[in-house]
Amino acid sequence: MKHLLKLSDLSTDEITEILDLADKLKSERKMGVEHTILKGKTLGMIFQKSSTRTRVSFEAGMYQLGGTALFLSSNDLQIGRGEPVKDTARVLSRYLDGIMIRTYEQSEVEALAEYGSIPIINGLTDYAHPCQVLADLMTIREYKKTLKGLKMCFIGDGNNMANSLIVGGIKMGMEVSVACPADYKPDKDIMAWAEKNGKFTCTEDIKAAAENADVLYTDVWASMGQEGEAEKRKVVFKNYQINDSVMGWAKKDAMVLHCLPAHREEEITDKVFEEHPEIFDEAENRLHAQKAVLVKLMK
Ligand code: CP
Ligand code: NVA
Repeated sequence: MKHLLKLSDLSTDEITEILDLADKLKSERKMGVEHTILKGKTLGMIFQKSSTRTRVSFEAGMYQLGGTALFLSSNDLQIGRGEPVKDTARVLSRYLDGIMIRTYEQSEVEALAEYGSIPIINGLTDYAHPCQVLADLMTIREYKKTLKGLKMCFIGDGNNMANSLIVGGIKMGMEVSVACPADYKPDKDIMAWAEKNGKFTCTEDIKAAAENADVLYTDVWASMGQEGEAEKRKVVFKNYQINDSVMGWAKKDAMVLHCLPAHREEEITDKVFEEHPEIFDEAENRLHAQKAVLVKLMK
């Protein structure tokens, strides 16, 4: 494993290794074990979009592993004034030991990896959010003790989260169902791959998707960069909400996950949100899962 650009680049074994290491780092942190695994190493974190969890968990994670992280806002970098990514990649590779980038185009992340000579981590693009899904899989495994054979249902926009959940879920032997409006489906190629490689369905029928689910997942109706479409999307997505009816279709002990930030009473009711504190274990696990990724890539 040289980079983390998208989950489809990882094998099932590599994902399992990351989750195992994440569990170990989590329990070591609870026991107060101090690490110097990444002593002297620096991670650059380029942000072209806002972030709470990704920024803070990567920064704290690097510190906890004995290294340092630099927050690089694209407003301040020359990238924001048009310096090509391929030049930025070659320059930053000479100062840093790894780069985490949050941006719009997946091709920008791929270009950093192609032109740079250090590990690149995708901290969210319009196409994928692999770091989030590693934390999600870790959380599901913590609660359910296994991943294989569980049914995960995603309700909402076929966005970056849906794309990465499909890949991660299918790779780990889960059944994945997506309920979304016809014009807002996940990536075509990802769906075709999922149909070939596992048990996957995509439907407008929320009940069919949620029936018997072990895990219910949702995300905002309008992602970062789609703020201008927010009002239109409120109409289109009106029924694509995790609420008590949906909970009634899923298994009794179904988990509810949300990558956050959440818009209460839009994609999830306040009631369901507050009844499922595992959402905050999921947020915590960003830290542990990413520390595992940092160790795998930068040690
Ligand atoms: N879930 C997630 O990536 O959160 P942030 O946008 O706060 O980083
Ligand atoms: N789909 C959301 C995820 C945020 C973590 C977005 O891209 O804004």
